[in-house]
Amino acid sequence: MNILSISKKHDWPSWLDLEFFVNFLHKHMSPYEDAPEDIRRGLEDALSEQEGKGGLIVLGIEEGSQKLIGAVVMLRTGMSGYIPENIVLFACVDPDHRGKGYGKTLLQSAMSSVDGDIKLHVEYDNPAKRLYERLGFTNKYAEMRFSAEKKD
Ligand SMILES: CC(C)(COP(=O)(O)OP(=O)(O)OC[C@H]1O[C@@H](n2cnc3c(N)ncnc32)[C@H](O)[C@@H]1OP(=O)(O)O)[C@@H](O)C(=O)NCCC(=O)NCCS
Repeated sequence: MNILSISKKHDWPSWLDLEFFVNFLHKHMSPYEDAPEDIRRGLEDALSEQEGKGGLIVLGIEEGSQKLIGAVVMLRTGMSGYIPENIVLFACVDPDHRGKGYGKTLLQSAMSSVDGDIKLHVEYDNPAKRLYERLGFTNKYAEMRFSAEKKD
């Protein structure tokens, strides 16, 4: 697998249609997928060059072709210390290629390319939790969310 790391919009490979990538993530992250519009916004944020924004997209590409195997998307949080500097937004490998170590390789590549600590959220029942633990992630805190839609 070849690895391509991108942090700026103008480095995005011309052969990879952004909408195809949005659909790839939406389809292959099921049942843990986000809505396409949220994925699209996440990718735009990751490639943003605005002060305090941005991140990294690591693509895994089949050798000798332009076929996407998987990807990891990281975002800078703009914070540090009290909140880690980076968050793993999406980690996804094509189901036909799972269990071959590609997910681990993509995550390791992304983890070694960013500065500072990294956080992520993963469902308790997602088998990916074991992979994250093997990569050194621990789960000291329970992430709790308050949905703004339920305010009234
Ligand atoms: C998580 C994911 C990226 C791992 O990719 P991968 O290439 O299969 O990962 P690796 O081969 O490096 O490691 C396999 C590990 O992934 C986990 N895993 C999760 N789903 C898996 C699947 N369908 N097949 C095989 N392994 C899977 C297992 O924990 C496994 O670890 P184990 O050996 O301890 O059982 C991939 O399973 C995926 O895209 N899952 C759906 C999207 C998702 O849940 N992403 C994480 C959201 S936070």
